[in-house]
Amino acid sequence: MRVVLAPMEGVLDHLMRDILTQIGGYDLCVTEFVRVVDQLISERAFLRYCPELKNANAYGCTTQAGTPVRVQLLGQNPTCMADNAAKVIELGSHGVDINFGCPSKMVNNNRGGAVLLKDPDNLYQIVNAIKKSVPDDTIVSAKIRLGYEDKSLAIENAQAIESAGANELTVHARTKTEGYRPPAHWHWIAKIKQSIDIPVIANGDIFTLDDALKCRETSNCNDIMVGRGALMLPNLAQVIKEIAPVMPWDEAQTLLLKYTECETYGDKSKYYPNRIKQWLKYLKLQYTEADQLFQKIRTLKTAEAIRELL
Ligand SMILES: Cc1cc2nc3c(=O)[nH]c(=O)nc-3n(C[C@H](O)[C@H](O)[C@H](O)COP(=O)(O)O)c2cc1C
Repeated sequence: MRVVLAPMEGVLDHLMRDILTQIGGYDLCVTEFVRVVDQLISERAFLRYCPELKNANAYGCTTQAGTPVRVQLLGQNPTCMADNAAKVIELGSHGVDINFGCPSKMVNNNRGGAVLLKDPDNLYQIVNAIKKSVPDDTIVSAKIRLGYEDKSLAIENAQAIESAGANELTVHARTKTEGYRPPAHWHWIAKIKQSIDIPVIANGDIFTLDDALKCRETSNCNDIMVGRGALMLPNLAQVIKEIAPVMPWDEAQTLLLKYTECETYGDKSKYYPNRIKQWLKYLKLQYTEADQLFQKIRTLKTAEAIRELL
């Protein structure tokens, strides 16, 4: 079984990847999406999303704990996506992932993300162009939802992605219209898995060991991806692999301090205060203590003030 740490724009950055993969249990991380419009993205910009590229070797880039990191691209122009995929592979990304699931109105209005699920040929063109632009042994993966407004194209979309040469597919088991509303329709992942031969990674609403067991049984997938659950319970991957019990709050709390130590954005930046508050919003769903802490730091504006309180 592989447990993949999901891409989460605005929340799951390299600092968080380091903390979570150091705890253990994760087999792969995917970065927040990098938006591709009509130009080649600079190396500097790629490094901002994925500083792990600095340590890339022949086997690709990893977190400090050695977990491979894959850059995710979001865009709609096949040629431009292919050029950027080739570049990020050259920089050392462990494969390249394509975002076909983003529900954001702004992204969709620019014809990126989930809106592409309306036409399987769109998906084919993008994946195929990327596949042709990278070395043969590069892993090209895609992440989809079950559809845009309905699920009528779910199978066709997956087949288009496979026939274009993708090596694996992650399925977030909801349509764009369903947003993040429970439930995730894991049985749909089983239908997709049955219709293609490449590995399928099941995603959506896996917050506990029990969820993981049910999802794996219903979706018929060995591999799963976790996003919000990993932020609620920092050792979720270990819990799912049944190698550790649920992390107690005092250990989770020390991770918040560790996150301040990795702070590289300076005390004046809003980056750390914003991100730690975001993280606490997830942690409080698992730990009541996190809610009390959130109330205390809610109004604090600097990293220094939060560090002192912690
Ligand atoms: C705040 C937030 C940001 C996200 N950013 C991305 C992203 O950049 N790329 C992507 O493919 N999915 C993104 N997702 C979707 C997640 O990767 C995942 O598919 C979804 O949250 C369902 O999985 P979960 O129930 O384990 O969280 C995001 C989700 C959230 C809540």
